[in-house]
Amino acid sequence: MTKIFVAGATGYIGKNVVKSALEQNFKVVIATRKVSADFDLKDQNLKVVEISKSDNSWIENLQGIDVFISCLASRSGEPKDARSVDFKLNKLLLEKAKRIKCSQFILLSAICVQKPRLAFQFEKLAFEKELKKSGLNFSIIRPTAYFKSLSGQIENIKKGKPYVYFGNGELTQCNPISEKDLSLFILSCVTDKNKWRKILPIGGPNQSLTPKNVGEMLFEVFEVTPKYKSFPTKLLDAIRLLLLIAAPFSSWAKSKSELIKIAKYYATESMLIWDENKLCYDPFKTPSTGEDTLEQYFHAIKKQRIELEIDRDSKLY
Ligand SMILES: NC(=O)c1ccc[n+]([C@@H]2O[C@H](COP(=O)([O-])OP(=O)(O)OC[C@H]3O[C@@H](n4cnc5c(N)ncnc54)[C@H](OP(=O)(O)O)[C@@H]3O)[C@@H](O)[C@H]2O)c1
Repeated sequence: MTKIFVAGATGYIGKNVVKSALEQNFKVVIATRKVSADFDLKDQNLKVVEISKSDNSWIENLQGIDVFISCLASRSGEPKDARSVDFKLNKLLLEKAKRIKCSQFILLSAICVQKPRLAFQFEKLAFEKELKKSGLNFSIIRPTAYFKSLSGQIENIKKGKPYVYFGNGELTQCNPISEKDLSLFILSCVTDKNKWRKILPIGGPNQSLTPKNVGEMLFEVFEVTPKYKSFPTKLLDAIRLLLLIAAPFSSWAKSKSELIKIAKYYATESMLIWDENKLCYDPFKTPSTGEDTLEQYFHAIKKQRIELEIDRDSKLY
């Protein structure tokens, strides 16, 4: 029975990878910083390693693993955090994988690293490079946008507030992927040799959507009268400039300036394949998988069949 270690198992994608892996009868090892109600600790096929707060010695407790899957991500996206999680922690796991002669390492990365400008993107790319030269069987998965990242304005529009976008609401596009479809894609890399030693950009089965399309969908699903508010992206530049002026005197301003840089990136760059020759994003070249659509997801939230989960990026799309 294949034994998989899932790093970042308490995260949005990680916990779904664990769930799907157990459903597919893999033996699963996870490492957590906190007890999570998401897992059935009585499951014979699940083993939990506790992460020590002071150092990375917990990595030594990983033994007999056949496949490493890393869904790690820095929670803040700030440069220091990105360095220590997206690069350093992943590198320690890779070294451990090599030491115990594990032959396969699957990395959850992000499609936005194809046009890197942000600290966390450079750290992800630096680790991708380490992984590619490691000699292990690697699969680097670069997903488009997650459903949770398009859900940040649901509570606002339900309260009658406007849906906010930048420019004309059509500056960017994405074809989002559900956490279940992505988890199944990640697990398919364990056995599908066509996905080994490859970088795999991947989106969902939806047509590509602009922020305005997402707003229209939300108003229709939640049956609220549409109301929109647009901001110019220059506003983000102006806020960032003020924060950068204050940055030498305030660590708060410094960290917020990186977050505004992230906001500007998502307000202006699409989560699709970038065509280097045509110098544009191409929805038709972005591979897709799965069957879950964003509209079904919004309906499920409305009917409270699933819990609304949002992240720090979600107000930026
Ligand atoms: N949001 C999007 O639309 C999008 C699109 C494409 C790609 N991505 C990428 O997908 C990846 C996963 O995203 P996600 O939303 O599933 O991430 P997430 O929910 O933020 O989960 C991050 C995971 O990493 C763990 N972690 C962070 N720092 C750690 C540390 N120092 N030691 C041990 N564990 C640590 C977290 O543990 P705790 O629970 O203990 O904090 C959590 O399990 C990221 O690389 C992201 O960039 C995101």
